[in-house]
Amino acid sequence: MNDYRFGDGLHIELTSRCRLACPYCERTRCKGQYQVRDLPRQLVFRLVENPKFKKIMLAGTLGDPIYHPCFLEIVEKIKQSDKELRIATNGSGKTLAWWEKVFNRLDSRDRVCFGLDGLQDTAHLYRVNTNFTRVFEAMKLGAAIRRATIEWQFIIFSFNQHQIEAAARLAHKSGIRFTLLQSGRFKSDDPLLPDLTLLPEALQKKLAKAGR
Ligand SMILES: C[S@@+](CC[C@H](N)C(=O)[O-])C[C@H]1O[C@@H](n2cnc3c(N)ncnc32)[C@H](O)[C@@H]1O
Ligand code: SF4
Repeated sequence: MNDYRFGDGLHIELTSRCRLACPYCERTRCKGQYQVRDLPRQLVFRLVENPKFKKIMLAGTLGDPIYHPCFLEIVEKIKQSDKELRIATNGSGKTLAWWEKVFNRLDSRDRVCFGLDGLQDTAHLYRVNTNFTRVFEAMKLGAAIRRATIEWQFIIFSFNQHQIEAAARLAHKSGIRFTLLQSGRFKSDDPLLPDLTLLPEALQKKLAKAGR
């Protein structure tokens, strides 16, 4: 997801709502210092219709786009305006029927990136309140619908680094793109800091190459 080129793209933070409480997210760290609000629907529509922008990214810093009350309508508007769409989300708390409506509005130029940092027994350790099975089912549905690219973004932590290869296999089996993210948010003595020297050599090389 971080490869997105912004030349003719617009990143919109639709909302400061989120149902998770990831400890190193500004949303969690600055709780009480910002208002929980949504961008007005008409303002979003005007931005989306602006011909200067060919690509729209729905992500954010203090929130997760899927919790905007008009999210489906906004996705529809973006696609009616013939824009390429990227969505970054934790993917939590929505039904498969709701996800089906999202995926069916997308096309092959679009990408939905799900942040899920671990497997059944670990994904909730950083993504507090997530439900691995439900998020994974949503990703699988998106991949089965085969309209947009479905990406599983896996941030490497000390508690999940032993699961990277199993998660990658699971993703590939289901037609989901798997990407690793090395976070820059750790302190040097952080218990969540992964020890990359413990990873298999091939994986270390791959990460080193990607980091260049
Ligand atoms: C603040 S989030 C907003 C989008 C969505 N709520 C999410 O978490 O994916 C924006 C980006 O930050 C990433 N992110 C979350 N926690 C992070 C961390 N500890 N280190 C690095 N990136 C992180 C997310 O995966 C996402 O790609
Ligand atoms: S899911 Fe995203 S917005 Fe929500 S708390 Fe985690 S990083 Fe922050």
